[in-house]
Amino acid sequence: MTGQGSNGDRQSPIDIAPERFRAAGHAMIDRIADLLAGMRERKVTTGLSAKEIRDLMGASAGMPEDGSEFEGLLERMTELLTRHSLYNGHPKFLGYITSSPAPVGMLADLLAAAVNPNVGAWTLSPVATEIESQTIRWIAELLDYPPTCSGVLVSGGNMANFVGFYTALRSVFPRDSDARTPQRMARATVYASTETHTWIEKAIDLFGLPPDGLRSIRVDPERRLVMADLKEKLVTDVKNGRIPVAVVGSAGTVSTGAIDPLPAMAEFCRAHHVWFHVDGAYGGFAAMVKTAPKDICGLSLADSVAIDPHKWLYAPIEAGCALVRDPELHRAAYSCHPPYYNFGEEVTNYFDYGPQNSRGFRALKVWMGLSQVGRRGYERLLADDMALAQELYDRFAKDANFEVATLGLSIVTFRYIPPEYRGRTNDPTTEEYLNKLNKALQARLEVSGEVFVSNAVIEGRYLLRACIVNFRTTSQDIAEIPAIITRHGKQVDEELRIGRAVGNRRH
Ligand SMILES: Cc1ncc(COP(=O)(O)O)c(C=O)c1O
Repeated sequence: MTGQGSNGDRQSPIDIAPERFRAAGHAMIDRIADLLAGMRERKVTTGLSAKEIRDLMGASAGMPEDGSEFEGLLERMTELLTRHSLYNGHPKFLGYITSSPAPVGMLADLLAAAVNPNVGAWTLSPVATEIESQTIRWIAELLDYPPTCSGVLVSGGNMANFVGFYTALRSVFPRDSDARTPQRMARATVYASTETHTWIEKAIDLFGLPPDGLRSIRVDPERRLVMADLKEKLVTDVKNGRIPVAVVGSAGTVSTGAIDPLPAMAEFCRAHHVWFHVDGAYGGFAAMVKTAPKDICGLSLADSVAIDPHKWLYAPIEAGCALVRDPELHRAAYSCHPPYYNFGEEVTNYFDYGPQNSRGFRALKVWMGLSQVGRRGYERLLADDMALAQELYDRFAKDANFEVATLGLSIVTFRYIPPEYRGRTNDPTTEEYLNKLNKALQARLEVSGEVFVSNAVIEGRYLLRACIVNFRTTSQDIAEIPAIITRHGKQVDEELRIGRAVGNRRH
């Protein structure tokens, strides 16, 4: 199909006449509004297998030689996605650290795509760049981070951590300096607890640190970094000629929501002149909540911070943010001006602050959320998520079918224990069976679509993990969850005993 729209004498197969765009767009928005209105009545996921999904969407079809009417395509894709997806906007989606998406962010993304500013350079995105700058300032304000900091929006937590990490690296090994020799780089070392998210391993590899460049620091029973181990490792390394690049703290670890002793880490780093980076991708925004553990305030002392609006500001994916205390060091790490770049120096060009060149207008959905909800609104939303996590923890703690393990920020870890195994944990055969059972139970819950949880592995125990970054979850949802998991737990336990293969993930 060609000629869907026309521009003067040019028949364009890609343009769409305004009246057709308007009609199809309105119809799509109606369908999205229906999706939101009926979210609670759906299953979290349909539990379809990869093959079933491929069949539904016609995955085996080849690349079309000729196009089709866009209305039909939009209708088909709206139907496919609104009927067969996993909905992280469902009140009982508590898996991973993926939030329910704010509706205002959905509209913002559409608007951003329509205007399509390239937020790499100010000239190409005058309004959008200023909106991104204001968004970054507001995020810093929420965290009590210095307003003089620089920042950049990126795709998510991994990238935000990479931005901070790379700035730290370039502060020690500047790009065009004698300090940056292979011999010196081979001595570079980074310090982070064993609970740090996997981005750290990728960063070591991507940014050319030596394979032995990561010092994994022990954690205490609350999964927080042990200061004594950090001190001992770093001081010994320096004596042995290693070059510390950064110490990394977590403001909300990915598995259990633990908060490292950030103020003590900041002080230690200052005394040893080492860059302090905080991964607050998940938990950082809890710094504005009065009931959050006190150590979270140490985030404001970091040299760089990673923080994700697409986690606890509920922005639709993708939106991460890196903040850097010293804008000059931040810019020096990334700035690159070939002779053919003719962009003004007196304005912010975001290509100077991160690895991306052309950049989308992520800031709009974050700005809209911040403006719609305000600081007080977010404080209440986050406090509610944390209170719901406490409620869930308390329910599991007094339910004989469960053993609770941890509660941190809005993450609860626990496991299902059938009656005959209670009081027998720590026995290796029991532990082995409980691991198998809970792993199978997680998969069964996933297929059931009644509630979606993920998992954590702590000291060899396979645990279920509920992470509440969901503004739709209510106390009633929390109250229903133990009974749902117990029902499936009993069934999976029975099936395992009689040796029947249980319904694993249907990939
Ligand atoms: C503490 C922490 N850091 C980094 C990440 C990675 O974030 P993303 O998946 O947005 O890249 C996560 C993801 O859950 C996280 O919890």
